[in-house]
Amino acid sequence: MSPSTSWHPGSYARNARFVSDLGEPLLRQLEPQPGELILDLGCGDGALTAKIAAAGARVYGIDSSLAQTQASRSRGLDVFVGDGQNVGLKQRFDAVFTNATLHWMKQPENVVAGVWESLKPHGRFVGEFGGRGNIDKIRCALHAGLGKRGIDPWSVDPWYFPSPEEYALLLTAAGFAVDYIELIPRPTQLPGDIFGWLDVFAQPFTRSVAESERKSFVNEVRAELEPLLRGADGKWIADYVRLRFRAVK
Ligand code: BEZ
Repeated sequence: MSPSTSWHPGSYARNARFVSDLGEPLLRQLEPQPGELILDLGCGDGALTAKIAAAGARVYGIDSSLAQTQASRSRGLDVFVGDGQNVGLKQRFDAVFTNATLHWMKQPENVVAGVWESLKPHGRFVGEFGGRGNIDKIRCALHAGLGKRGIDPWSVDPWYFPSPEEYALLLTAAGFAVDYIELIPRPTQLPGDIFGWLDVFAQPFTRSVAESERKSFVNEVRAELEPLLRGADGKWIADYVRLRFRAVK
């Protein structure tokens, strides 16, 4: 994940627990079997990793955040710090699973090549992340706020949201057979105010603004988004679009 983001397990749990709560359909795609060896790439605080383990699989997690790996370990999971763009593991897995991580990795060819190397023959790669159009409104508001301040937003934008066609091409070029790939619009109710989401996920943008300007930048982004994403009941709905896939080596 982006080095310009600090992951705080407490804030993540308060503002982003829905990320793992909404992972059930992906777990069904994975179909973990007892005794299988599975890698959870970008395991975060281990909420879904623990569910894979509960299905009887032997699961290892890898995450770039030390704080998140510590949170995972406190669940009794085997997790280590590592870069998904440079996996380089000796072990070979029956499956590699990944949820809500790949959009932070802007070298997707390296990710796919590393996953290929990590899989046994016929091993499966099952994942979900932000696809084309994901959080477009939020991204536009962040870009507009930086543009106004003379900062090129693309120089700090940490996200990769490919179309299914683009990602399928990448997978096939690496040798995978793509069983399934789909773009799924999934408007998602946030647990609180958009401030919480921005605090956890928009750090590369906020950190590019001078400290004295940050508060007004975030207030402006919120004001821009309020008529677009906040319902009459006061609840915030983020414009998520998922790209879900299953590919086989
Ligand atoms: C996502 O899960 O799609 C996502 C979350 C935070 C920032 C960008 C994308």
